[in-house]
Amino acid sequence: MATLTPLKTLRARRRCLAEFLGHGVAVIPTAREQLRNADTHYPYRWDSHFHYLTEFPEPEAVLVLVGGKKPRSLLFCRPLDGERERWEGRRFGPDRAREAFGVDEAYPINTLDEKLPPLLAGCETVYSLMGQDDAWDRRVQSWLQTLRAQVRSGVAVPQNWGDLRDHLGEMRLIKDERELQLMRRAADISVRAHRRAMKATRPGRFEYAIEAELLHEFRVHGAAGPAYPSIVAGGGNACILHYVDNQARLRAGDLLLIDAACEWQGYAADITRTYPVSGKFSPAQRDLYEVVLAAQQAALAQIKPGKRVSAYHDAAVQVLAQGLIDLNLCQGTLEGVVESGAYRRFYMHRTGHWLGRDVHDVGRYVDGEGRPRRLQKGMVLTVEPGLYVGAEDDIPEPFRNLGIRIEDDVVVTEKGHEVLTEAVPKTVEDIEVWMTQTRRRS
Ligand code: GLY
Ligand code: MN
Ligand code: MN
Repeated sequence: MATLTPLKTLRARRRCLAEFLGHGVAVIPTAREQLRNADTHYPYRWDSHFHYLTEFPEPEAVLVLVGGKKPRSLLFCRPLDGERERWEGRRFGPDRAREAFGVDEAYPINTLDEKLPPLLAGCETVYSLMGQDDAWDRRVQSWLQTLRAQVRSGVAVPQNWGDLRDHLGEMRLIKDERELQLMRRAADISVRAHRRAMKATRPGRFEYAIEAELLHEFRVHGAAGPAYPSIVAGGGNACILHYVDNQARLRAGDLLLIDAACEWQGYAADITRTYPVSGKFSPAQRDLYEVVLAAQQAALAQIKPGKRVSAYHDAAVQVLAQGLIDLNLCQGTLEGVVESGAYRRFYMHRTGHWLGRDVHDVGRYVDGEGRPRRLQKGMVLTVEPGLYVGAEDDIPEPFRNLGIRIEDDVVVTEKGHEVLTEAVPKTVEDIEVWMTQTRRRS
């Protein structure tokens, strides 16, 4: 099967973009293969915008959309080549690609420089993923230069060069039913991975061994792999927000923070859980954990259509700041701690982000007036408050080196929201019971 999404949906996406182009032409290349070392490449991953519009999986491909009264879609891709395919894998080739991906026309990629200038001649604006890849920016310039050299023969050169990313970002922000299906699957596999990791956690094991449990679950269910580098952070490592070393030994008495999820058919999940290595929270760990959990619940209550996207962060900050005051980690009034930003010593990130093909997905966060935009049905976002308490002298001993984050993936529905990742134990009681029971059985 060539595409997972019905062709009519892919065509509708391309039509929607073509309407935006007016008398313009859009050039959307997929990602390049990236060399890892010598002649070995990183595993290939297509560009998210390109794949959203085509689902064409091969490198060295470009989608060209021509706007106007008779919109057209053209795919440029690698030609069939028996010798190269024996070494590198099968290709669609232009003819099969045209049918399988529902584009109007398809050509070998090596004809791009010849075909593009005539397509651009006479159009008002050339659109691209401007600034994403210098070499592609230069390529667009070279086509315009070719046309400029022909002006005396009456060729009209596009006068504008526009960036497609904002518009594509807005299209991708609202997920359709098919996309939500894929995101549910990404979430389900990631939930299983967290449950497996929780079950495998015990003092003396290494962070990388727990990471291996996650990766096993991703791959055994057919996911491409992690949607982003897995964070498996024991003890104070959890206070490093993007910790990816995953080399340390887990110690009894420490917490373990895992931020990991898979990519399924191009869509990411993004889950964090934090729990005790030995299965039981200390009183200080429990106190801090309960604050983060309450902050997440307060944030979730703000996820519904019409609410501003800032509301859930603000709600989480109120609860976190009050918790820090109650635990004597911040001094002063709630208003004072929030206004001064004193809480930021322990909470230095936002409470979430859009989620989709990219883990930090595309789409604006502000409306036309520059205010935080309102939530709409079909948006998907993460809700991920945390607290990160270092080991400085003024921190009471029991709170030192505690890093806690709880992160779930949430769809905005008609009347409220749906949490996709609820099935990973999250309350203190559920975690303690679950870890005791599963580890007794294993
Ligand atoms: N895993 C990346 C994030 O939570 O934003
Ligand atoms: Mn996240
Ligand atoms: Mn995360």
